[in-house]
Amino acid sequence: METLTLNSPFDMHLHLRDGEMLENVIKYTAQNFASALVMPNLQTPIVNVDLAIAYKQRILQACKMQGIENFMPLISLYLTPSLDKAELTRAKEMGIFILKLYPKGATTGSESGVKEILDSRVLEILEIAQSLGMVLSIHGESNGFVMEREVEFHPVFEALAKNFPKLRIIFEHLSDHRSIALVEKYENLFATLTLHHILLSLDNVVGGMLNPHYFCKPILKTKKDQEALLQVALSAHSKFSFGSDSAPHLRSAKESSKGAAGIFSAPILLPLLAQTFASKNVLEKLESFVSHNAHKIYQLPLSQKSVKLCKKPMTIPQECYGVVPMLAGETLEWSVA
Ligand code: DOR
Ligand code: ZN
Repeated sequence: METLTLNSPFDMHLHLRDGEMLENVIKYTAQNFASALVMPNLQTPIVNVDLAIAYKQRILQACKMQGIENFMPLISLYLTPSLDKAELTRAKEMGIFILKLYPKGATTGSESGVKEILDSRVLEILEIAQSLGMVLSIHGESNGFVMEREVEFHPVFEALAKNFPKLRIIFEHLSDHRSIALVEKYENLFATLTLHHILLSLDNVVGGMLNPHYFCKPILKTKKDQEALLQVALSAHSKFSFGSDSAPHLRSAKESSKGAAGIFSAPILLPLLAQTFASKNVLEKLESFVSHNAHKIYQLPLSQKSVKLCKKPMTIPQECYGVVPMLAGETLEWSVA
């Protein structure tokens, strides 16, 4: 049987939530990845070091309850104007080196985000972050027309990339083919790619009956965008690392009239990546995409953990603890061994 071993896989963009949801979903990632960058947009956002340390402890405790000891969560710190030099210095000392910037109101849990990104207070924080060697991850969307939001945000990335040439800036969940050239243009600009943006398009959301389970931010775009992003992933372009943006919401929250944005992909990530890369005869590129690129971009140590996949079918459940996963009910050609 065809197999593939991936050394030290990283998921550089993950929502784990808290409490019962965290306890339910942690295993999907912790069993299959060496490490993941966990997002701070909780109901009580992770806006300071104490909250970040306590959250990391809860994640590690949830892993322990599942008997998983070899998973390292990386906690990102929610960027708000109240961060200062002392807090950022302490964060860095505690191994918290990634700041997450949400434009206020752009997505789930962004109410505490930044209203004016190029405001002097924010720029001061970024100056400190640069001097400390931190990484800035950005949800890059304007509040304009939904299909143009990412491109409308490009000037902000350009201004930040030019102003802070030593700050590594991550363009999160790239969704528009026009963003690829921007990432290539600046040495200090990098990006993450999700599984859903490289495989799905707006057709999956509204092409037939409305499918709220594929509603996410940034919204899935055209086939042309999807195809361009897929090519970037398949080539394991060194400026792009894998970040699933797996974002669990209960079925009731997705199917209600206030449909929550977010796609839950954690249960299928590595098998579907293997199937995708294998179908294009570039399976040997997958390790760069899910491991080496993140190792280089974020300067993360490689873990001893490896994950073995095999070409054996896996049927995706209809529901996992009340959450509908991506491709629910379908069968994949690959599974985790
Ligand atoms: O679709 C999304 N869901 N996009 C985000 O930026 C946030 C995420 C969530 O937290 O549910
Ligand atoms: Zn996210």
